[in-house]
Amino acid sequence: MRFLDFRSDTVTKPSPEMRRAMAEAEVGDDVLERDPTLDRLERRLAELLGKEAALWTPTGCMANGIAMMLHLRRGDRFLAPAQAHVLGSELGTASWLAGGMPEALPWAVGPGRITGDQVRKAAGSSGPYYTLRTTLLCLENTHNFAGGTCLSLRDHRDLTQAAKEKKLAVHLDGARLWHAAAFLGASLQDLAEGADTVSVCLSKGLGAPMGSLLVSTKDKVEEARRIRKMLGGGVRQGGVMAAAGLVALDYLPRIPEDHAKAGELATGLRNLGFQLETPETNILLVPVASVPKATDLLKERGVLVTHVGSALRFITHRDIAADEIKEALSRMATCAEAILAAAEA
Ligand SMILES: Cc1ncc(COP(=O)(O)O)c(C=O)c1O
Repeated sequence: MRFLDFRSDTVTKPSPEMRRAMAEAEVGDDVLERDPTLDRLERRLAELLGKEAALWTPTGCMANGIAMMLHLRRGDRFLAPAQAHVLGSELGTASWLAGGMPEALPWAVGPGRITGDQVRKAAGSSGPYYTLRTTLLCLENTHNFAGGTCLSLRDHRDLTQAAKEKKLAVHLDGARLWHAAAFLGASLQDLAEGADTVSVCLSKGLGAPMGSLLVSTKDKVEEARRIRKMLGGGVRQGGVMAAAGLVALDYLPRIPEDHAKAGELATGLRNLGFQLETPETNILLVPVASVPKATDLLKERGVLVTHVGSALRFITHRDIAADEIKEALSRMATCAEAILAAAEA
């Protein structure tokens, strides 16, 4: 039985074409004199996002961590939508490494969504020297734990405008900004505008084995390069990984296929009796009463999922073919009643 792995869009394996590109990559020592393939990838990403420069990092967590270290001084407060990755899923590095004090803003207008007015209110106004200073707003588009929801261009502008009024820097965690752009029909540049730094991941949805980029101004990226080295992230022949990243970008036009798979999965699960929101992108949250029971029943049938709170989380990606959604649904049909019965118990 082939396992259908919906745990994350990070579980994809490098394609043969990607492995070939990695084997043949032109490389140099990036710490000493830069690696030509890393350079090419960094320039490509900066251009795609409409910024001056970009820095490759092995992971999204490192890109976000470096951004926090760029923006925060010890004791500064930063704002982020509740359940943002930087708040709960990066082992407290925003505090531990960057000295920031987190403030989670509740979702006021739908899953993962906050407003400019919330930002204005939370930022407050600058007071005497003994008052807490708020200096950064972190956004996340798409919002993973809200179910891959998108921040529309209008909301993004409202939030970055509010941050500007309050003199907050803006970091956008755009691990899945590709998915937001595809859903909204917006350009990556528009979705990155107004953010001082943006992180994007090539290993989520696009199929690279690793690699994220922190995108910003030339000056900030040069400082970020120093911080990356301080964190032990100065890579040598990183072009091997960058070559995979360049191939990964070819998948961008196919992102809507993964959204369609999530949509089909949602319809099928509804037909089986589950209640769930229609997914905007490639993430699907399915509330159940017993996560361990549901997860085990699905695993016995070769369907792998994780969970967010009391909901199962399915993420569709390039390594699950369109016709495997039907296969997943027919396997799930054999245990739907048991999962739903647990819900009624
Ligand atoms: C929204 C978001 N940001 C950052 C990350 C961290 O990426 P990485 O696992 O590459 O460190 C993730 C990982 O899933 C994520 O979903």
